[in-house]
Amino acid sequence: MKITKVKKSRVSKIDFKHLPFGQICTDHMYVADYENGQWHKGKILPLSTFDIHPANLALHYGQSIFEGMKASKHLDGTPMLFRVDKHVERMNASAVRMCMPTIPAAMFTEAVTELVRLESAWIPPQEGSALYIRPFMFATEEYVGVRPSSKYKFVIFTCPVGPYYSKPVSLRAESQYVRACPGGVGEAKTAGNYAASLFPAKEANDAGYDQVMWMDPYEFKYIQEVGTMNIFFVIGKKIYTPALNGAILKGITRDSIIQILRSQGREVVETDLSINKVLKAHKKGKLKEVFGSGTAAVVSMVNKIAYKDQQITLDSSKYKIAPKLKAIIDGIRVGKVEDSFNWTHRVD
Ligand code: COI
Repeated sequence: MKITKVKKSRVSKIDFKHLPFGQICTDHMYVADYENGQWHKGKILPLSTFDIHPANLALHYGQSIFEGMKASKHLDGTPMLFRVDKHVERMNASAVRMCMPTIPAAMFTEAVTELVRLESAWIPPQEGSALYIRPFMFATEEYVGVRPSSKYKFVIFTCPVGPYYSKPVSLRAESQYVRACPGGVGEAKTAGNYAASLFPAKEANDAGYDQVMWMDPYEFKYIQEVGTMNIFFVIGKKIYTPALNGAILKGITRDSIIQILRSQGREVVETDLSINKVLKAHKKGKLKEVFGSGTAAVVSMVNKIAYKDQQITLDSSKYKIAPKLKAIIDGIRVGKVEDSFNWTHRVD
């Protein structure tokens, strides 16, 4: 792969102890172009802006998809990637749904690996921080009619990040707006899903909540996911999470959590989960924990949920399962916990 390096890295100027989420980008990016029905050889070059034509199809009709991944450093100093195969799979499922070309797994993996190898000095050393990797693809053809673009760019850039949420999160269960419905694009990691979430999220923020908890589009009764993460509820001895139904993002951290919990012999129930079940469990004192999962969020505690005029408040400092899950996932990423699932990929 052709690699053009910056003359002088900015890494020595970074205060790794105070990392905001997503505001600092590293020195380089990867770019590959799709044209004439095929991907052309990608390259790594200094981070820069793109020239965009006013008729760029992505800007008008939204052919734009992305992934979120993380690289960390093993205790022995080797950069580590987490579940790359699952991210390629999801990126390509998003591509198919948005009528965009898929990316060969080997091309995706090589691009991420080479970029992380080059930017390894940017991987934050402290626990809970990581190098966030943002692979994305967008249409680049200039055309004003509605049809799939014939040209695309696949780009990867990276950001050293601290935790997405530094304190427990409060949620408002939505009872007016809808994120996704079966048959829609809810399962795709496409830009428009996030654009559509902004106004409801702003209303929830104005009402004093951190995030929206999305509900089913018919009755606003069944829980789907939170704006930035999938969601889990510990009720009695069981752990419940909404079943994937085509309208919920197939979270890779969600899948990791389910596998970890099941390997510990715990019962995880993936089901149509109603808010009434959660409210009832809370009334009976059986709702022990609520937490979200995501690449950016890892495992984030939830301490408040509002649904219409009802409100649940939980003491997340008493949670036992969620902090352990977070420690296991963070531990696997840095080699402190054995990777018995074979999820990590060393960038030697
Ligand atoms: C991620 O967790 O990687 C995401 O893409 C969520 C995004 C809202 C930061």
